[in-house]
Amino acid sequence: MALSTKHLLGIKPITGEDIQLILDTADNFKEVLNRPIKKVPSLRDITIANLFFENSTRTRISFELAEKRLSADVVNFSAAASSVKKGETLLDTVKNILAMKVDMVVMRHPMPGAPVFLSRHIPAQIINAGDGTHEHPTQALLDAFSLREKFGELKGLKVAIVGDITHSRVALSNIFALQKMGAEVTVCGPPTLIPKHIESLGVKVSYNLEETLRWADAANMLRIQLERQNIKFFPSLRDYSLQYQLNEEMLARIDKPLVIMHPGPINRGVEITSEVADSDQAIILDQVENGVAVRMAILYLLAGAK
Ligand code: CP
Repeated sequence: MALSTKHLLGIKPITGEDIQLILDTADNFKEVLNRPIKKVPSLRDITIANLFFENSTRTRISFELAEKRLSADVVNFSAAASSVKKGETLLDTVKNILAMKVDMVVMRHPMPGAPVFLSRHIPAQIINAGDGTHEHPTQALLDAFSLREKFGELKGLKVAIVGDITHSRVALSNIFALQKMGAEVTVCGPPTLIPKHIESLGVKVSYNLEETLRWADAANMLRIQLERQNIKFFPSLRDYSLQYQLNEEMLARIDKPLVIMHPGPINRGVEITSEVADSDQAIILDQVENGVAVRMAILYLLAGAK
């Protein structure tokens, strides 16, 4: 089996069969990661550049670990410490890095569409590690993997995505991935943080957290992305928390075994309390653990799809 794509630019352009193949391959790599010797030679002689033009903790470290576990040669680039600061363009930066014989590029960039742009101008394979408010495909795949691990299958699963839907690349990629795998999605948050016409993607919309959680098997709690908001979308963080925070009182009211997810970084005390984020119902650190196996699967399959 092979992926239908040379790049991973988003979840929208890939098929349900691609997602299934990535999740099944990640199962094998998760087993490898639980062995005493976690390294396999699959990507020996492949060079991968991790280009981060925007901050990251989880995605950057997870990709680097995945690449090293597959025996790839790895170079890391951070825009903050580069000649981007002297005015060099994205294309010049990447062409210079590729002149040093790089096979794959993992890229995070604040501009939606930056990975698609690069894929049209350079010969290397591109993996989107988050492009502005557009897509974050590897996060959606690790979320789907974690849900499948917890529930056995994704078909028929009811997933709530709660919070700042408008500014969230995680929300969009999750919507595409979950629907392609047969799950149902409700987005929930204040009307100002839910894009108009999002129903056209086939999701339900709710402005009521308690009702949404009563319906859901799992809730993915999103961070309020203050850094992407140059106008006010709600009166204050306290007002937001009063209506949309997942806390122990809410969990006691709905009284059901809801599975709780968060892509990180968490704003503790805003969208979720520490007690809930650290509770047995939360699979937040499982998501992070699974991210390495899922990214190993993506790199391995893309290397074979060249
Ligand atoms: N979930 C996620 O993308 O986290 P980072 O921004 O730390 O990579």
